[in-house]
Formats: sequence, C-alpha cells, structure tokens
Amino acid sequence: MSDRDPSPPAQKFVRAAREGAGPADPSLPRPRPRPRAAHPLFELRWRRALREIEGPLHRLYAPAHDVDALLGRMRDLLYAHWRARPQDLRALDLERDVDPEWFLSERMAGYVCYVDRFAGTFRDLPDRIPYLRTLGITYLHLMPCLLPRPGDSDGGYAVMDYTETDPRLGSIDDLEAAARTLRANGISLCIDLVLNHTAREHRWAEAARADDPHYRAFYRLFEDDTLPRRYAETLPDIFPAQAPGSFTWEPTMGRWVWTTFNTFQWDLNWENPEVLLAFLDIIMTLANRGVEVFRLDAVAFLWKRLGTTCQNLPEVHDLLQILVQATRAAAPAVIHKAEAIVGPRDLVAYLGQGRHEGRVCQLAYHNSLMVQAWSSLAARDTRLMTHVLGRHFPEGFRRATWVTYLRCHDDIGWAITDEDAAGIPDLSAPAHRAFLADFYNGSFPGSFARGEDFQPDPVTGDRRTNGTLASLAGLEVALESGETGRIDDAVARILMLHALIAVHGGIPLVFMGDEIGLLNDPSFRSDPHLAADGRWLHRPRMDWVALEEGLSQPDSPAARIAAGLRTILAARAACPSLAGHVPTRVVDLGDRALFSVLRPHEAVPVLGLFNFTEHPALVPAGRLPIGTGPWHDRLWGGTVEAPEGRLDLPPYAARWLAPAG
Ligand code: GLC
Repeated sequence: MSDRDPSPPAQKFVRAAREGAGPADPSLPRPRPRPRAAHPLFELRWRRALREIEGPLHRLYAPAHDVDALLGRMRDLLYAHWRARPQDLRALDLERDVDPEWFLSERMAGYVCYVDRFAGTFRDLPDRIPYLRTLGITYLHLMPCLLPRPGDSDGGYAVMDYTETDPRLGSIDDLEAAARTLRANGISLCIDLVLNHTAREHRWAEAARADDPHYRAFYRLFEDDTLPRRYAETLPDIFPAQAPGSFTWEPTMGRWVWTTFNTFQWDLNWENPEVLLAFLDIIMTLANRGVEVFRLDAVAFLWKRLGTTCQNLPEVHDLLQILVQATRAAAPAVIHKAEAIVGPRDLVAYLGQGRHEGRVCQLAYHNSLMVQAWSSLAARDTRLMTHVLGRHFPEGFRRATWVTYLRCHDDIGWAITDEDAAGIPDLSAPAHRAFLADFYNGSFPGSFARGEDFQPDPVTGDRRTNGTLASLAGLEVALESGETGRIDDAVARILMLHALIAVHGGIPLVFMGDEIGLLNDPSFRSDPHLAADGRWLHRPRMDWVALEEGLSQPDSPAARIAAGLRTILAARAACPSLAGHVPTRVVDLGDRALFSVLRPHEAVPVLGLFNFTEHPALVPAGRLPIGTGPWHDRLWGGTVEAPEGRLDLPPYAARWLAPAG
C-alpha cells in the first residue's frame, strides 16, 4: 500500500438478510450494514474498536458525512493491512493484546537521535545497538526520516511522501530491516508522523494546485483574506520571527493556504474524513514495516474553529481516539505518542480525560516537568514547580503515561502562565519568563548557562531558548573557566535532572549526545538550509572519536555523565516501584531548595529527593512520607541515615529513598 487514496468509496457491505423479515419500516433506525466476515481474530478486535470509534466519528463527521459508509471503508482498509501484516508483528500483536500495558514497564527507557547524525544510515544503525543496550535503551525515536521536501524542510517536518524514506538515510526496506534488528534486541522503534500539515510539494498539495477538487478539500484554502483575517485575530504566532502569520498566498492557485508553521507546510483539513482515512492507511503501512510507536507531531493544532486559538479543541481528542483505537484493531502492538507542547491545563487531556480516559494516546511529552525543572534550576527555587506539578497533574492515568525529557530537538518555550505564577507570592509570569530567557541565554548576571534566544515575539515580548542540556546546565561555561568546582556542579546538575525524569512516572528520554554532555554546536550557521533555524544549535552530531576518548578517561565530564546515566537507568530498570502504573505524587517539603516526588508502591514506596541549589540542604526526616529512616538509596546504593532527625542533601544531589529493611 502507498499513501495514495485509501480504498475507494465502493460499498463492500452485504446487508443483514433476516429470514422472513418483511419490508423495512422507514421509521425504524437503519440497521447497521453487516460487513463480509473477516478472520475471527480481526473481527474480535474490530468489534472492540467499533465501540470506541463510532461515538467520535459521529461527533466529528455526522450528519455531513455518512458515518456507516466511513466505518465500512475504515474496516476494509484495516483488514487489508491486517492481512498483509508480517507474522512476527502479528505475534507481537498477540503478546501486547494480552499485556497492553507493556510500555508502562520500569524497564522502558528511550533514546532520540537523527539517523545521520548518530549512525549514518539505516543500515549503519544496528552497529550502534550495543551502545544503546549498554545505556539500557528499550525505545528508539528516530527523528524525521520520511521523505522531506528538498531544501529547508523544518528538520524533516515537511513531508513529501509518508511511505518513502529520505534517500540520504536509506530506503524504506532498510528502515524495515533496522526495525527488525532493533526489535530483536528489545528496542521498539518510534518515528514521527506529521499530521497537521504536509509539505507544499506533497502529491496531495500538487493535485490541489492542479485544481483537483478531491485534494483541494484536503487543505484549508481561502479565496480571499476575509476569513484568514478573522481567524488571525485569535491565532498565536508559532514562528513569529522566521515565519510570521498563519496564512500564505499561493499565486498558482489564487488562494490563501493555512500554514501554521512555515509557508511550505500546508495545514491539512481534518474536517474532511478523507484525510483521516488517508492517515490510517499511512499508519498501517508504516506499522507493517515495523514501527511500534508513532510520535504524532503537533497534534494540538489539528482542529480549527473561528474565535479560538485553534489549539487543543475538544475535537482533537476525538480524532486521536479514532486514530489510536483504529490502529489497535489491526496492529495492537502499536502505540501513539502525542506531541502537544501546551500549557499544564491543556496537557493532561492528551493522556485521556473524561470520556477519552484510557482511549487516546498512550504516551505524551511532559512539557511542564521539563519547563519547571529548568525554572527551578535557574531560580534555585522549586515552589512554582511543586505548585504546578502538584496541582495540575493527576497522579496517574488509565493505560497511559508520560514521556519525560529534559531537552528535545525543539526550543524550550517558557510556558509559565499568569495563573500558575499567581500561586507563588511576588512572582510575575512575564517577569519570570523574561528572567528564564535571560538566564539561559547567559546574559543574567551570574548565570551558569550558555544558550540562545529563539523566536522573540514582538507582540508578547516572549523569547524561547535553544541550547543542549549540557550547555544550559553550565558545562560549557564551566569548561571554559577550567574550574573544577564549576565543572563538578555542572555534572551534578545534569545527573540530578536525569535522575528526576527517571524517577517520575513515564518513559525517560535521552536526547542524543546528552548522555556524554555534548555542547552547543554552532556549525549549522554555515549550512544555508539550516542557518535560519537556531534550533540546530542543540542538534549536534555524535562524535564517536571524542566519545571514546572521553569515556576512556574516567574523570572526564563525558565519562562521569555517561556512567551516571547508566547507573540511573539501571537503577530504574531494577525498581518495579517506578513502573508507569504506580502513581506519581508531588510532595511539598516546605523548602524551596528541594523538590520531591513519591512513588507510593504498596510494597516498596520510593521517594525522589532533589536539591536544586549549590548549597547543602538539611531535610527534617519527620517531613518525609516514608518513615524517619534509615533508608536505602535505590539510585546510588547504600544506606542513608538522618542523624539527629536530619538528612544531609549535598548540592544538586538526587536520592531515591526507600525504607531500609
Ligand atoms: C513539532 C516539531 C517541530 C516542528 C513542528 C512543525 O513541534 O517538534 O520541530 O517545527 O512540529 O512540524
């Protein structure tokens, strides 16, 4: 199958012929057409999916579209892919149907990389598997690898063909072979699926420009700027500096095109169910090649409504429910991860709230944890973090969990709302956002960070931040100073942050290079296709020679970070209390230097304890919700005691305490 149209509207149903039934009474609800019998296993799964899909389909597409006909086409499409599904993947389907919470395991740990910058090509990837295994990785997210438009492709997020790969990385068969080898080594493959837009050069967009009405309806086009202007009144700018506005005039068509991101990324019209069917076809095509996790890119933007920000609309969750549950009908081994970089209030819904509970994406990025961790580190004050994480986030989800991370390929947007700041005396949200941008671009007096501003917004005055984990956490400045104490602090900060995301519920992700403290890489500025996008600052190439050199000197920062991270991930894998089904409870210890999170496992509760400052802290043992000691440190090992009722926590220390004995 390719990403051509999914099965045509041909009706493949046979009506239920009831013996002796008289002529149908037109006042009765129309009987559901009964499809031709499929394989019994598929039938069972399709019936399970139907219960979850019908409601959202009706809400989104009736009465403008015939929902029964849509369901019929969806079933045919899924069945065709199910039949084509390779045997080994069908075996994995069975395994995960029996254990649908497999991804909640404490053994899950992710790594994120660009294929070319990490390994070279898909064919070279297997050579790097031993390295990933030593780190304890069980999940590999390959940054965009489907066929991008030529030239600037927003780092591969402007896709020309979803069923072909970027030839510089290899063929789709090579990707499939790499997926198989990864799977054989216990590593699940995750790739990006860009749902909100295609490249302007995608076949669908070309057909739209050639006046094909079927494909014109795939996009959001406007004959004049009346509606775009009205929408624009409430739309925020995503790239205010490099691509201001959300609409682009397309002279070849004489129409405005909705382009939320760059002018060459055409927003799809998800109000058209043909788009939904086309993407189900793509998902299944790639799933049958061995993709186990789809990172659903920019999902917050999928549905648009006049007078809103066109983000996080309730319809998005209905759409996600359909995509997730339909995939489950034909490929239960596959799960979906929502990339919704939105404020705390909107974020939770992506893991299932209300009627979507347990039915939408199994994974979502914990953007708030990331932002708050950096905020606490700069301010040496965890009050906002404790407030936001303790207040807005449930302790757990039904059959879903976070991916936790410290950095990704994107900038950090300082998503701190007025409402959140109001919870902390004397804190102003705009002032705190400005402080964080200044702190992390290094201009704030005494800052340890070395990053850069990204997309300053002339309207709001907000700035976002680029930089690698190590550079933002102080290693770059410390190495320049040559001062041991500063280097030690930077290494301690990096390890504390890794220990935080590994003890918090979810799958911790390591962004390529962070495991050895790679610094900012300004070389992108000399590449004309990359120079305009400052995010390349923190997408360095893996330097295997430097890595070997660094790792061969046990005292080097690279070796200390790598060894520390290996210990952290191994400690996590050995601690069932950290599995995704165990709640994550934020504990307020009443000390702004400290952040604490409890994993209240019935047998072995574990308390993550973090000192976000360069000063030693004394923690009154009586405040800890796991007894007054002694404790076993599940992270670094050994017994921890509280002589005179106080536990000593060194600068930037991380502990995972469990009652001893
Ligand atoms: C996501 C990606 C980002 C990209 C955007 C548009 O947010 O992470 O890199 O620019 O989507 O596709």
